[in-house]
Amino acid sequence: MKRNEILKDRISVREYAADNQKFVIEEFTDSISVFNGIKMADIEGKGEIMAAMAEELGCYLRTKGIEARFVERISSNEILCLKTEIIPLEIVTRNIVAGSMAGRLGIEEGLRPGNTIYDLFYCSPELENPLINDHHAVALGFAGYDELDEMYSVARKVNGILSVLFDRAGIALVDFRLCFGKLPDGRIVAASEITPDTARFWDKETGERLDKDRFRMDMGKIGDSYRSLYQRMKSVLQ
Ligand code: TMP
Repeated sequence: MKRNEILKDRISVREYAADNQKFVIEEFTDSISVFNGIKMADIEGKGEIMAAMAEELGCYLRTKGIEARFVERISSNEILCLKTEIIPLEIVTRNIVAGSMAGRLGIEEGLRPGNTIYDLFYCSPELENPLINDHHAVALGFAGYDELDEMYSVARKVNGILSVLFDRAGIALVDFRLCFGKLPDGRIVAASEITPDTARFWDKETGERLDKDRFRMDMGKIGDSYRSLYQRMKSVLQ
């Protein structure tokens, strides 16, 4: 399908209008960025790994009954997605404490809480995507309580499915971010891909990080880690 005008131009993902108005095309670039674009680099082959991972997980989650905007991979680094009305909320599901939660609450990374934690963020780059709660989201008109229930339910199901999958590969799914969109008929679907840019993955034995924290923390070997994560995931999908 032909790419038309750019709808969203982010450093690691570009979204294009497609010929057919029902779809958009997501192009994964080789770029990586953190801290709101302050730190950036190019990782050779990254776009291809991201598209391959989006394809494998998109297809796998579909077989498990998860509705998402992902339709199919259309080139080495592009995927076709259903066009959705984006809901400006993100749910971060946390199985192990890390990242912003560890920093905000002064907890050491690696703690396994007794329950799964769901953080709700308002997607507003100008406000640096603040943490909010359900009542804020409803009061601000971003979603109704029933729609939030649906989003948490999708996050919970995705977490269950992917935690088991990655566990089989010897990898802990530490946390992941999920965005949501509304289809023209009002159904809410997962509207972001789960990749090492949007989720944390730790080797269960060594604790080695296989995700974007390697770049945040100047740990190097980012391309190698992303490739290794993809290969290990693929080996348990076959
Ligand atoms: P956090 O611990 O920094 O809040 O991140 C939680 C998860 O969200 C982590 O898996 C990475 C993902 N994430 C994004 O996808 N985009 C972002 O801009 C940030 C800060 C985190």
